[in-house]
Amino acid sequence: MLLSNKVALITGGARGIGKEIALIFAREGARIVICDVNSEELEKARIEIQGSSTDVLVFKVDVTNLKEVENMAGNILDNFGKIDILINNAGITRDALLLRLDESDWDKVIAVNLKGTFNCTKAVSKGMLKQRQGRIINIASIIGLIGNAGQANYSASKAGIIGFTKSVAREFASRSITVNAIAPGFIQTDMTDKLPQEIKEQMLKQIPLGRFGKPSDVAQAALFLASEASSYITGQVIVVDGGMVM
Ligand code: NAI
Repeated sequence: MLLSNKVALITGGARGIGKEIALIFAREGARIVICDVNSEELEKARIEIQGSSTDVLVFKVDVTNLKEVENMAGNILDNFGKIDILINNAGITRDALLLRLDESDWDKVIAVNLKGTFNCTKAVSKGMLKQRQGRIINIASIIGLIGNAGQANYSASKAGIIGFTKSVAREFASRSITVNAIAPGFIQTDMTDKLPQEIKEQMLKQIPLGRFGKPSDVAQAALFLASEASSYITGQVIVVDGGMVM
């Protein structure tokens, strides 16, 4: 197994890409912690993950709240003694063309996607720096690379995550902590289900591999970045998009 004895914290892990990462990591031997704001989905995810790993902790935590995040990090250390892998996955969209984009929708997306990534990295990295070992994997998006009409807030948050990833990779490299980002393309989850059919059809035409991505496509890239196999890779953005951006 690729992650025996590792402890992995996955934010926004109650459904979608985050839950798939948790399931795949559990099957590879990791002890799993997931946090989310959705307590109903969290409980369902806990039961599902327990099928593969007996060591599962769940926390109802809002990643925008540094205090809640710090309390969770302390609780994980009390229970599991360490955190080896952090997946900053919690994310939201609030799409609108710029002239109709409310200040509150700008603030909310930046708070969850970008500040949430900062909060969790800050809370978890103290322990990683001490143990001189760790993996931080930030879930960005191809929209942070190429932009998208109607997603200025989301695109800015994801581009911000990419800059954050490279800066922290440089800061932590001397302690053998790698920091990388994954930029998924169009992945079939609840987040993309709500898009109009017409937009989905347009998107599909732009995917050279001719299909939408599955959460497991992203989870397998995360597994590689979390495993020993990627120990000489840091500060990178791995695009998982069926060839949309190349
Ligand atoms: P999803 O909406 O299915 O799952 C996101 C999870 O994050 C939900 O369980 C939600 O409750 C949780 N969450 C939201 N706000 C939170 C907060 N403040 N604190 C803690 N948890 C919170 O979305 P999906 O598709 O699984 O996306 C996961 C990540 O992948 C996101 O960062 C998203 O931006 C990114 N992504 C998704 C793509 C897609 O096509 N589905 C493409 C590119 C990136």
